[in-house]
Amino acid sequence: MEALKGVRILDMTHVQAGPTCSQLLAWMGADVIKFENPAGDATRGQLRDVPKADSLYFTMLNCNKRSITVNMKSAEGKQVFVELLKKCDIIMENFGPGVLDRFGFSWEKIHDLNPKIVMGSIKGFGSSGPYADFKAYENVAQAMGGAMSTTGVPDGPPFVTGAQIGDSGTGLHLAIGLLAALRQAEKTGQGQYVEVAMMDGVMNLCRVKFRDHQRLTRGDLPEYSVPTYKDMGEVPRAGNDSGGGQLGNAIHCKPHGANDWLYIVVQEAVWEALAKRIGPDVHIPDLATDPRFATIGERRKNQALMWTLINKFAEQYTKRELMAILNPLDVPCGPIMSTDDLANDEHVRGRDMWVELDHPQRGKWWNVGMPIKLSGSPAVIKRSPTLGEHTDEVLREVLGYDESKVGALKQAGAFSSPPKKAA
Ligand SMILES: CC(C)(COP(=O)(O)OP(=O)(O)OC[C@H]1O[C@@H](n2cnc3c(N)ncnc32)[C@H](O)[C@@H]1OP(=O)(O)O)[C@@H](O)C(=O)NCCC(=O)NCCS
Repeated sequence: MEALKGVRILDMTHVQAGPTCSQLLAWMGADVIKFENPAGDATRGQLRDVPKADSLYFTMLNCNKRSITVNMKSAEGKQVFVELLKKCDIIMENFGPGVLDRFGFSWEKIHDLNPKIVMGSIKGFGSSGPYADFKAYENVAQAMGGAMSTTGVPDGPPFVTGAQIGDSGTGLHLAIGLLAALRQAEKTGQGQYVEVAMMDGVMNLCRVKFRDHQRLTRGDLPEYSVPTYKDMGEVPRAGNDSGGGQLGNAIHCKPHGANDWLYIVVQEAVWEALAKRIGPDVHIPDLATDPRFATIGERRKNQALMWTLINKFAEQYTKRELMAILNPLDVPCGPIMSTDDLANDEHVRGRDMWVELDHPQRGKWWNVGMPIKLSGSPAVIKRSPTLGEHTDEVLREVLGYDESKVGALKQAGAFSSPPKKAA
């Protein structure tokens, strides 16, 4: 049985942050009803690669959900919303600030209507504080949560990461909060409001940078390859430094293309074996006993030279060849994998992390799989719904509406966009 079988979610989320969360919950077996604006989640049409088909932006974030369109700007639509609310365990949204209030549904009202329902809300900055009224997208959250100021090199501009820590990262945080609140609601009969601000989520993911921020009040950061000093204030951007107690860096390999790099962690325990292997090739046969690298403290001090030597050794190998040399020495390392490497990787396929699906509008396509593996209830990934595909089904099955009621509501415009007014 699926872990969340029997949990029904009224999913008003859109774009990426919310849908990431509800897709994970759907993969764990929840019945996720994607409650859409009749115009559809904007991502259905964004970055379209196949004419008239739902974009990959949408399909990759909305699998295993049912789609119902409801016009919340009509009285009939609001009535359907209220009835669905009473049949669901979780409601979730990531609208801009104030949107649900403008519909007339504050958390207090929702809680009144269904005291057991858990409500999940993602906002750029939460519902309190000076930034509460602002909208946010991924890179705004990365900028404001500390990720950008700590990513890149000191004399270059701040960089965003490719990993969507602001959107998808916040979705993960919300999923954890919802499951905790759901468990409490099951015990107490009382739901609660679960809020995750994207800025807070990014700060959480930058936790170790705030460790370093405080260490700077006591001294420099010896593991950083870039200069640091006591009371410098801001944690500097440190390129590809490891960020942990061990030294690490990306090493350029043959044939020296964009992704021909191997990330290597020179873990304390492996230095001797590594030094013995590379020393002769870089003309320092006694590297393993060289006092400049004898202790981790010395290696930190002389890390520029250490990386030069490892890079010199790497010149003759591809990233895979270098990995094959280092793995038997127990050196933690990993090739920089391009999207193409990953889409064709045996390990990735074997773990169902690159999954082929079919879709009525776009044909065959691929999704990244479910990263959380439950032994007793593995995820079965199904395609995303087309817009409003399940409107009738949900009205009949969840709300028990008959054909004439559905017809009358349709006639009244409960499920469609109001006709545009003539100019
Ligand atoms: C992402 C974001 C910036 C997009 O902004 P936006 O496109 O202006 O969308 P909003 O959420 O502010 O507004 C949605 C609009 O659709 C309307 N709408 C949504 N569902 C509807 C429905 N079922 N029926 C009728 N109208 C609907 C809302 O009423 C609102 O219009 P209004 O401003 O006239 O009230 C904003 O939603 C946001 O800041 N969200 C919180 C942070 C977040 O999740 N960001 C990351 C997204 S990946």
